[in-house]
Amino acid sequence: MKTIFSGIQPSGTITLGNYIGALKQFVELQNDYNCFFCIVDQHAITVPQDPAILRKNIRSLAALYLAVGIDPDKATLFIQSEVPAHAQAGWLMQCVAYIGELERMTQFKDKSAGKEAVSASLLTYPPLMAADILLYNTDLVPVGEDQKQHLELTRDLAERFNKKYNDILTIPEISIPKVGARIMSLQEPTKKMSKSDPNQKASITLLDDPKQMEKKIKSAVTDSEGIVKFDRETKPGISNLLSIYSILGGKSIPELEAMYHGKGYGDFKGELAEVVVNFFKPIQEKYYNLLESSELDEILDRGAEKANAVASKTLKKMERAMGIGRKRK
Ligand code: TYM
Repeated sequence: MKTIFSGIQPSGTITLGNYIGALKQFVELQNDYNCFFCIVDQHAITVPQDPAILRKNIRSLAALYLAVGIDPDKATLFIQSEVPAHAQAGWLMQCVAYIGELERMTQFKDKSAGKEAVSASLLTYPPLMAADILLYNTDLVPVGEDQKQHLELTRDLAERFNKKYNDILTIPEISIPKVGARIMSLQEPTKKMSKSDPNQKASITLLDDPKQMEKKIKSAVTDSEGIVKFDRETKPGISNLLSIYSILGGKSIPELEAMYHGKGYGDFKGELAEVVVNFFKPIQEKYYNLLESSELDEILDRGAEKANAVASKTLKKMERAMGIGRKRK
C-alpha cells in the first residue's frame, strides 16, 4: 500500500476551504492508502497564538478530522509536537535548504509583508513541512492549491538530500483536487478563503451555526449582472459559490446553471445555504459528541505511538547519512 501524509494547522476553526481542498480528499483516500494525518501545532506557532486558544483548537481539529469521516482504524491521526522526530528532522532539512529559496516562498512573503517583527520560524516553515512529509516515506500529499509551492520545495530538498548524502528519502507526488482546489473568500472572491482572515464574514467554518452560515452566504459578494453562470475571470463571486454548491450538493456546474436559468441570486443563495447547512449538520453532531469523549485522547495517543515508530526510524537513517551522533550497533 502506498503512503499518504497531510497536515492542517490548528490556527482557528477549519473552513469550508480546508474541507473541500483537503479533508474531503483525505476521507476518500483513506481506503486505498496507508494514511498519516497530522495536526501541525508547531507550524501554528510560527505566528503569534494565544496558548489557551491554541490548546483548544488542537483538540477541536482532532475531533473535526474524525467527525468528517477519518476512521482511526484506517488512518493514523496525531499531533505533530507529540512526535519529536518532526522538529529534529526539520532542523536537518533546514541544513539542506537555502535562505534564498525560502525567501521566495509566496506564503512567507504574504505573512511577513509589512510586519516589523517576523519570527525566524516563519522563514524556516517549509523545511519543517518537508520533514513532516519525508519522515513517513510518503508517496502522495493531498493538499489545496496554495500548498503547491511548498510541495515543490519539499521535492527539491529531498532530491538534494539524496544526492548529497544517501538515497534514502522518497520523493512525494502532489495531489490537488480538480474542483475546489482554491475556495475563495466570500467577501473578496479574488482572495483565498482562510481560517486566519480577521473578517469573520469572509469564511464559513465547519462549526458555524445554521443562522451564521445562511447570513454569510446571503451576504457573499457577487456582481450586479444577476445571471448564475460560471466564469472565474468576470464573475469570481458567483463562480466560487457555484463550486461550493456543486461539491456539497452533488450537482455539476452546468446542471446548476440550468437549474437557476432566469432566476436571481436571492433564490440561488438561499438554496445554497440550505445545502451547506444540511451537509454540515450531521458532522457537527458527531463533533460535539466526540469532543466530550475520552475516545478522542485514546485515538491521539495511539496515533502518536504509531507515527513515532515510523518517523524515528527515518530520522535515524537521515542522521546516520549526515554523520551526526555516534555510531551504534
Ligand atoms: P492549512 O492549515 O493552511 O490548510 C490545510 C489544508 O487546507 C487547504 N486549504 C484550502 N483548499 C482549498 N481552498 C482554500 N481556500 C483552502 N485553504 C486551505 C490547504 O491547501 C491544506 O491542504 N502548510 C500547511 C500545513 C502543513 C502540511 C504539512 C500540509 C504542514 N505540514 C505537510 C501537507 C503536508 C498549511 O498551512 O495548511
